[in-house]
Amino acid sequence: MAEPKLIVDIITIFPQYFAPALEVGPLKRADQINLITIRFQNLRELADSPKEIDDYPYGGGSGMVLKPEPVKRALERAGYKDGFVILFSPQGRVLTQSLAHELVGKRHLILICGRYKGVDERIMKYVDLELSIGDYVLSGGEPAALVLLDVLVRLIPGALGDMDSAATDSFESGILDAPYFTRPKVFEGEPVPEVLLSGNHAAIRRWRRKEALRRTLKKRPDLLEKADLSDEDLELLNEILHEERRRTDE
Ligand code: ADE
Repeated sequence: MAEPKLIVDIITIFPQYFAPALEVGPLKRADQINLITIRFQNLRELADSPKEIDDYPYGGGSGMVLKPEPVKRALERAGYKDGFVILFSPQGRVLTQSLAHELVGKRHLILICGRYKGVDERIMKYVDLELSIGDYVLSGGEPAALVLLDVLVRLIPGALGDMDSAATDSFESGILDAPYFTRPKVFEGEPVPEVLLSGNHAAIRRWRRKEALRRTLKKRPDLLEKADLSDEDLELLNEILHEERRRTDE
């Protein structure tokens, strides 16, 4: 069988946390068709005794710190020298879609899920990237690892079914995605926009791009400053601004 596109080792004291999420959706599919291999390095099994997993911080203070020896053992079992080591931490670089594209290009990721107060600082020399999933504090890296897996699997070619596509997802072109409609044609008196029923693919594409830009302008104007906008995008934004101005004048 061909090599999987992505091998992920997860270093954790809670491998069972991941089981339900790996049994559904794109992660299950990607595993079944050998696009991703997820392995667990269970810190509890790698420690000589339960007391070996974590300890009080030197110098005092509340909370527990993961001890370095089992983490190092887990890194060795995962083959860290040929992998890209990520430590989840609220102090890390914040995950974005463009960072996800960079990470999915690595063949082997090793994810360290910190717990309690964190991981002994002497593990940092083995870490290639500290990664945060947002400006809030989780009680451990496991939810962050699941978020990362979900984001990455969508980017592996073939992992999504034909019905699904990541290409038009929000953030893929630096802006939010357009609104979508499905049957019925009229819901609570509100019809689906005419253009979507027209069968005119060029007009539909233009409408979607315009509405994506409109949404981004309204909900996340900060994204527009960094987005790579085409001449057509600028034209559409101009139209939107005129329309919005007209609406407020009325
Ligand atoms: N561990 C604790 N908080 C975290 C966060 N926001 N992102 C990633 N890992 C974390």
